[in-house]
Amino acid sequence: MYEHDVIVVGAGGAGLRAAIAAHEAGADVAMVTKLHPVRSHTGAAEGGINAALREGDDWELHAYDTMKGSDYLGDAPAIETLAKDAPEDTITLEHWGMPFSREDDGTVSQRPFGGLSFPRTTYAGAETGHHLLHVLYEQVVKRGIQVYNEWFVMNLAVTDEPDPNDRTCHGVVAYDVQSGTVEGFKANNGVIIATGGPGQAFDHTTNAVSCTGDGQAMAYRAGVPLEDMEFVQFHPTTLPSTGVLISEGVRGEGGILYNEDGERFMFEHGYANNDGELASRDVVSRAELTEVNEGRGVNDEYVHLDMRHLGSERILDRLENILHLAEDFEGVDGLVEPMPVKPGQHYEMGGIETDENGKTCVDGLYAAGECACVSVHGANRLGGNALPELVVFGKRAGYHAAGKDLGEAEIETGYSTDVEDETETELPITPGEAGIEPVSTSESVATDGSGQVAGGDALLEQAVGAERERVERLMEKESGTKHADIRSKLQNAMTRDVNVFREEEGLKRALKEIQECRELYQDVSVEDPSRTFNTDLQMTYETRNLIDVAETITLGALVRNEFRGAHWRLENQIRDDENWLKHTLISWNGGKPSIWYRPVILEGEDKTYEPKVRSY
Ligand code: FUM
Repeated sequence: MYEHDVIVVGAGGAGLRAAIAAHEAGADVAMVTKLHPVRSHTGAAEGGINAALREGDDWELHAYDTMKGSDYLGDAPAIETLAKDAPEDTITLEHWGMPFSREDDGTVSQRPFGGLSFPRTTYAGAETGHHLLHVLYEQVVKRGIQVYNEWFVMNLAVTDEPDPNDRTCHGVVAYDVQSGTVEGFKANNGVIIATGGPGQAFDHTTNAVSCTGDGQAMAYRAGVPLEDMEFVQFHPTTLPSTGVLISEGVRGEGGILYNEDGERFMFEHGYANNDGELASRDVVSRAELTEVNEGRGVNDEYVHLDMRHLGSERILDRLENILHLAEDFEGVDGLVEPMPVKPGQHYEMGGIETDENGKTCVDGLYAAGECACVSVHGANRLGGNALPELVVFGKRAGYHAAGKDLGEAEIETGYSTDVEDETETELPITPGEAGIEPVSTSESVATDGSGQVAGGDALLEQAVGAERERVERLMEKESGTKHADIRSKLQNAMTRDVNVFREEEGLKRALKEIQECRELYQDVSVEDPSRTFNTDLQMTYETRNLIDVAETITLGALVRNEFRGAHWRLENQIRDDENWLKHTLISWNGGKPSIWYRPVILEGEDKTYEPKVRSY
């Protein structure tokens, strides 16, 4: 068994920033990560990091834009923390060597991004996330923080009290991809989950194959609520054949969207008469798909993004990476022809419910980054707000897990009897039941078999034993269903029915197919017999995580019968503030998901944000 004060699971931007902070606060920190840090998906973040750095801008404007972008479903205390802390945390990155693009006078460049009232997106060419990872990893290496590379975390070791608010996390169980062994990692102070999003639940996504919702699924099975999972961002400019991201930075620099008839449809068809291509992402994605659905798409599939008029000098200076992506993945030269683009899954706004210090309702368990929901993004994240979220809330989670007092958080977490009752909404099938043994079982919560809570070491050993047994069962099974078949069934259902446009019938169909995936998973087997570098085994585990997370996305979407941010509903195409100014929370309770709600917090430090009509 390995032992440290703080264990960080995942080594993307949030995990690295959390580890640095916990180390600064004096903790013995270790990172346990299925990928080497610089291979993390943060590296694919192209556009930039929002921070109010210049004269004429201020944190209040950033907070207002974020609240409006969230379609009034973000919590004001978290949004204000983001906007206030982002400038200092961005400057820290610069001091650590972040190679931000610069103006001729040497000041750091900022560019416009969708939904921003001021050009506050600080960037490093069109590969900001790549540089961010390297800068943060350098700091981790400099501090001698231990990184357990290519260790896949399978489960959390959490006590099993009936009320999740009374539980404690003592560590994690992980699989060493290189040797095939399963070991325990004890955390004396806390575990921070920073495992990114679940983009692989969809088959057209900007997300890497590693984005399988592992942390969300593990926290969920341990009793932590997942919040606002129905809000999935579809980025308007992804390459049609692969889902590779073409940064919003292209539109920020002046790139224009055209339909097949050569119309600048964002203006000419009235989707966003003020901001056009720089409306927020939910608006632009719906506009593109409407163009395609109404017969004005190119090849009935996509639209064109044109940056030729920016000139080669500016493109090569600020967007060179985009030229390579378009050429390598689509065979298009962005200097001489427009690039084909269409919406693709990009980001999960919801996640593990936390307060502003990254704390979940389970003692000793924290989350930060895309896997968490604090919540700053609400129903729609603004481009350029993911990276400040990583550094601001990653840092806070790191400090807090290491015992540094950051003061009382204003956001409550965990199941509470004060919140609105569980929904009475009729669902087509009872989630987690219908004669189907759920993928998730209470085995994620380790017990000593007597109903008594075991101590930290014993609990962890027991959790390790359970995973070793599971591995043996999977390896020894002679034949069965392949994880890849289950995963593609899941991805097809999610992409077909839980996409930009959603309707009740499709959501019910998707939910039913997710249940079928659960059923198929009972028969899953691992074909690769090797004990080392067995990605077949790892992907089998990941597929289980995807099923759990996909179900929460779909359930949340089915029940939220209104149109808000990225969640459009055919049956009710208006935002319903009277009934739906509330967060959806889904808890794994007694072997099945239950849905309940908590009111959104619109009261900020000095003002209350009044929901307004959201137009761009
Ligand atoms: O378009 C982009 O460059 C993506 C940025 C983001 O998701 O924040």
